[in-house]
Amino acid sequence: MTRYQNLLIIYYSGTGNAKRVSEWIGAKATEERIHAIIVPFWKFLKEPLPDLTGNTLIGFCSATHGFNLPHSFLKLIFRFRAFPGSDVFIINTRAGMKISKLFIPGLSGLAQILPAMVLWLKGYHVRAMRPVDLPSNWISLHPGLKKEVVESMVVRWKSKIDKLSGDLFKRKSSYWTALVTLPVDILLLPIAIGYELIGRYIIAKSFFATDKCNDCHLCLKACPTKSIILKDQRPFWKLTCESCMHCMNFCPQRAIETNHNILIPFLWILPVFVNPWIASQIVNLTSQFVPDLLSLSPWISMTLKWVVMIILFTATYFVIHYLMHFRFLRKLMRWTTLTQFRFWRRYRIP
Ligand SMILES: Cc1cc2nc3c(=O)[nH]c(=O)nc-3n(C[C@H](O)[C@H](O)[C@H](O)COP(=O)(O)O)c2cc1C
Repeated sequence: MTRYQNLLIIYYSGTGNAKRVSEWIGAKATEERIHAIIVPFWKFLKEPLPDLTGNTLIGFCSATHGFNLPHSFLKLIFRFRAFPGSDVFIINTRAGMKISKLFIPGLSGLAQILPAMVLWLKGYHVRAMRPVDLPSNWISLHPGLKKEVVESMVVRWKSKIDKLSGDLFKRKSSYWTALVTLPVDILLLPIAIGYELIGRYIIAKSFFATDKCNDCHLCLKACPTKSIILKDQRPFWKLTCESCMHCMNFCPQRAIETNHNILIPFLWILPVFVNPWIASQIVNLTSQFVPDLLSLSPWISMTLKWVVMIILFTATYFVIHYLMHFRFLRKLMRWTTLTQFRFWRRYRIP
C-alpha cells in the first residue's frame, strides 16, 4: 500500500467547527509524517497551488448551509481541477444539538452527495464522505448552545475524527454515515434548491450593527466572503453574504444583532404582498413585446418573480440601513431585538 506523502485540506468555516476538524486531521497527519497543508477556501483561491509532489490526499471540509454546501465552497468544488486523479474526502459539519443526554444530528441534504458526484465525475477517487455534528452556530435562529453542551460535543467528535483520520491514512473507505440518510437528504432537495436560489440572499439581510459598534472594522476584515462594507459609516451586509455567522459571533462588542421583531417581518411584507403585483406588471409589460411569453415558459415568470423578490429585499434592507442614520430608529431596532439579551448566547468553537 503506497502511503500518502501530502494532505491538503481546503475548508469553509464561519465559527470554527470545520476549521477545527481540518486541524485535527492535519495534526494526525503530521504525527504520521504526512506533509499537511490546511487552508481556508478564500486563501486557496487567491494563492498559487501548493507545490506537492507524490501521493496527495485532498479534503474538502465545510459547514452546511441550507441543506447544501455554502455557495462559494460549492463553486470552488465545481471549478476544482488541481492534482487530478487524487484521492479526496468530504466532510460537512452540521448543526448538532443535545437534548438531555441525547445527541441530535443535523441534516446534510446535498452537502455530501453533490460534491461527491462532482468530484467523482472529474476523475477523483472519493475515499470518504463524513458528516460531523458539532454545535449549531445558526444564532440568527436560536441562542448559542450552553458551554457544557458545546464542550461535550467537541470531546465526542475529537475522538471520532482521530479514528477517521487513521482510516483515511490507511486508505480505508468510509461512506455509510453519509449514505444512510440519503433518502431524507433527497427529500430535502427542493429546500436545498430554494435556499441556493433565494434563501441565501434573504437570510443574509437580517444583520445590523447597533450603537455598541466601536468602528474596529474587525467584521469587515474577517468576513470570509468579504461581504461586509461600510455604508453611511456603518457595516452593511452585501448580497454575497453567506450568513456564515462569523461576524455576529466574533464581534468583540456584541454589536451585531439579528432583529426578529422589526427587520425580518418588514423585509417579508414587501416580497409577500408587493412582489406578486410588481412581478405580474413586469410580465405583462414584457409579454407585449414577446407574445405568449407566459405560455412559452412558466419558468420565465417564476424566475422574474424571484429576481424581483431579491431586488425588493435588498432595496428594503438598503432603505432601513439609511433610516438607521436616525438615532430613534437605531434605538428601536436595538430594543426590539431578541439577540441582544444575555440568554441569546453567541457561539464559536472553544
Ligand atoms: C445560514 C446557515 C444555514 C445552515 N444550514 C444547516 C443545514 O442545512 N443543516 C445542518 O445540519 N446545519 C446547518 N447549519 C449549521 C452549521 O452548518 C453548523 O453549525 C456548522 O457546524 C458550522 O460550522 P462552522 O463553525 O465551521 O461554520 C446552518 C448554519 C447557518 C449559519
